[in-house]
Amino acid sequence: MKPIQMVDLKSQYEKIKTEVDAGIQEVIDSTNFIKGGKVVDFQHNLEKYLNVKHVIPVGNGTDALQIALMALGFQPGDEIITPTFTFIATAEVVALLGLTPVVVDVDPDTFNISIDSVQKAITPRTKAIVPVHLFGQNADMEALIEIAREFDLKIIEDACQSIGSVYTFSDGRQVQSGCMGDIGCTSFFPSKNLGCYGDGGAIFTNDDFIAGKIRAVANHGMVVRYQPRPVYRGPSAGS
Ligand SMILES: Cc1ncc(COP(=O)(O)O)c(C=O)c1O
Repeated sequence: MKPIQMVDLKSQYEKIKTEVDAGIQEVIDSTNFIKGGKVVDFQHNLEKYLNVKHVIPVGNGTDALQIALMALGFQPGDEIITPTFTFIATAEVVALLGLTPVVVDVDPDTFNISIDSVQKAITPRTKAIVPVHLFGQNADMEALIEIAREFDLKIIEDACQSIGSVYTFSDGRQVQSGCMGDIGCTSFFPSKNLGCYGDGGAIFTNDDFIAGKIRAVANHGMVVRYQPRPVYRGPSAGS
């Protein structure tokens, strides 16, 4: 008897081997490995598919979450609300940056973040909510967006398990997972919904300013390659 694999990457590869091998060979022939042509093509295809203004490819889902938090400029001691039930990376990056993870319960029917628990966890130090869309199922984004507006909080969606799923708002609007908050983060870990051959991730946003910050953080603070960032020296003398 053949055991049934939960994620059968080998059988999947065998079905698309010719295409995958040719694609990998093309990358090697081009020697354009980092932020190269194929990655840029993928970025633009994903922007179209998700109907989002900016897709910023990064190393993996954990990097995506960390870069998103850094780009929003949170300071040590700021509280970030996130669910108890997730992969450790979601809370781990919050703690790594010296921010305070405030873990709240999930809804037993969906395993997604409980709106009631979020409301109870808000303090004057709360700066953001990081909902996790688990198993391809989106959290109650309509309620979370309302809370974020009321308390002036950012929303960073952990869409590492949900790329390609769609959320329907009560007015009928349908939006791709990861594209409803200020920033969305996904993972292309091989066994994910959209897995890659190696490690990969991406950040999504519709905000041009935030996208610029994310690109800079993801690239050693550089906006232009090897150029120092312009320093603001205040209004020029005599003016
Ligand atoms: C919900 C969730 N968040 C974050 C991550 C981290 O992604 P990665 O393994 O690409 O760093 C994962 C995947 O393992 C995940 O399932």
